[in-house]
Amino acid sequence: MQKPSQKPTIFVLAKKCKMTLKHEIDRRRTFAIIAHPDAGKTTLTEKLLLFGGAIHVAGAVKSNKIKKSATSDFMEIERQRGISVATSVMGFEYDGVKINILDTPGHEDFAEDTYRTLTAVDSVIIVIDSAKGVETQTRRLMEVCRMRRTPVIVFFNKLDRPARDPFELMEDVEQELKIRVRPLVFPVGSGASFKGVYDLSAGKISSFQDGQLTPKEEAELRGNVELVEGVYEPFDREAYLRGEVAPVFFGSAMNNFGVRELLDCFIRIAPSPRESATEQRAIAPYEEKMTGFIFKIHANMDPNHRDRIAFLKICSGTFERNRNFLHVRSGKQMKFSSPTAFMAEKKSIVDFAYPGDIVGLHDTGNFMIGDTFSEGERLKFTGIPSFAPELFRYIENADPLKFKQLAKGIDQLMDEGVAQLFTSRLNGRKIIGTVGALQFEVIQYRLEHEYGALCRYEPISIHKACWIESDNRAQMDDFMRRKHTNMAIDKHGRDVYLADTAYALAMAQEKFPDIMFKFTSEI
Ligand code: G4P
Repeated sequence: MQKPSQKPTIFVLAKKCKMTLKHEIDRRRTFAIIAHPDAGKTTLTEKLLLFGGAIHVAGAVKSNKIKKSATSDFMEIERQRGISVATSVMGFEYDGVKINILDTPGHEDFAEDTYRTLTAVDSVIIVIDSAKGVETQTRRLMEVCRMRRTPVIVFFNKLDRPARDPFELMEDVEQELKIRVRPLVFPVGSGASFKGVYDLSAGKISSFQDGQLTPKEEAELRGNVELVEGVYEPFDREAYLRGEVAPVFFGSAMNNFGVRELLDCFIRIAPSPRESATEQRAIAPYEEKMTGFIFKIHANMDPNHRDRIAFLKICSGTFERNRNFLHVRSGKQMKFSSPTAFMAEKKSIVDFAYPGDIVGLHDTGNFMIGDTFSEGERLKFTGIPSFAPELFRYIENADPLKFKQLAKGIDQLMDEGVAQLFTSRLNGRKIIGTVGALQFEVIQYRLEHEYGALCRYEPISIHKACWIESDNRAQMDDFMRRKHTNMAIDKHGRDVYLADTAYALAMAQEKFPDIMFKFTSEI
């Protein structure tokens, strides 16, 4: 029989757990830094980690760029993979806040990976080279942020070098990235005449290398501040959280100038974990039951083990080590004895994790990107994009004795999201579709080194792959009949139309108005 005193104890404990959960959620900031290669993402990341005490020397964070000339240098690819495992998630504590930085690959051929990572963050910092302004890759990444209404902060970097006019740079962001801006600091000069930044809310200047303002510079600054206050509306945090306005900072990551201001403001204004969308309902982070989804899978570096790390983003409740959770797609209960947390470059086994955190799960080939974990509810998170590939090749077995290895290798690499696999309805041949050319070489190399399988490619002329859907069964049947030589199915059994040319695609869209041609599909 229960003692009368037990009830209140349980009640108090449950209340305490709830309070802990709320506290842990509210103090988390999970974000990504996005930038065009060379703008200074690695340098800024490193400076942020230094502030957090997560690293102690400069140079600890390696750039994950693949140099242009290294397209066929496989050691370079391997080096990059090694780095990107180590820096996939960098967690650190700063001023009572738990910060999780999710790394995004530098090379544009891995843009898909970046898009998926953006589904796991609550906000973004965009780094722009002040001599160059907005560049192509930033534009593309911003489109994803806009779609998801992700709050963004802009950091104009490299002010120690000759830079473009600050007003011109901000205009560039408004035009090119289609978001209103609001400067929170304003620079005085650049390059050799860079004197520092003026904090617009505190009304004071931080000097760069003890630079003194000349009377002319002082007058100019006054004029600029007046202009800023006249042109830009006061900073509105709600508008920032809705993704409508981007606060702007200026500085020099390399010289660690303007970085603390950025970080201090970031922890104050950036959002803590927010609601996540599923096909069934919206999930609030404060819900007691754990939910989460896998947004990235990474093969281990050890060629003797085919084990992988799956990155689980916690969306609600508390994740616990050794507790059973439902892997929704397979319907199986699973528990993890050694889930890993990422603190800067160190990995450690974690007992609890909270919304906003990323947990590394050991995977022997059972997980796919987009998989949901829950405490029993059958949920499917939405918005994890899969982009229509633009480069295609037939993939063939080059070693008849290794058929099984090849099939397994292809299957697992596709689960990792390296590329997409289509099966032609016409002849059953396998077609690999990628977003970047480098992936074909990565696949061939990894099949050989990790699975002992050999593949060769054959050319196929396809302009674009798109997923087709319609409520009009008759029109769909008609389309499938006429286009049967161009039809394929994807890994999930969905119908895909492989258009030969842009013209054929345009004609198809015109002739079959009830069919939706989708260029991204959600996993
Ligand atoms: P990324 O990750 O965005 O690709 O850029 P990364 O930080 O690697 O920086 C690219 C180059 O720009 C590096 O020079 C880096 O030192 C430099 N850089 C970063 N921030 C600043 C800054 O505030 N001012 C100046 N002047 N340069 C900056 P690198 O020569 O390519 O490499 P390294 O030899 O310096 O490592």
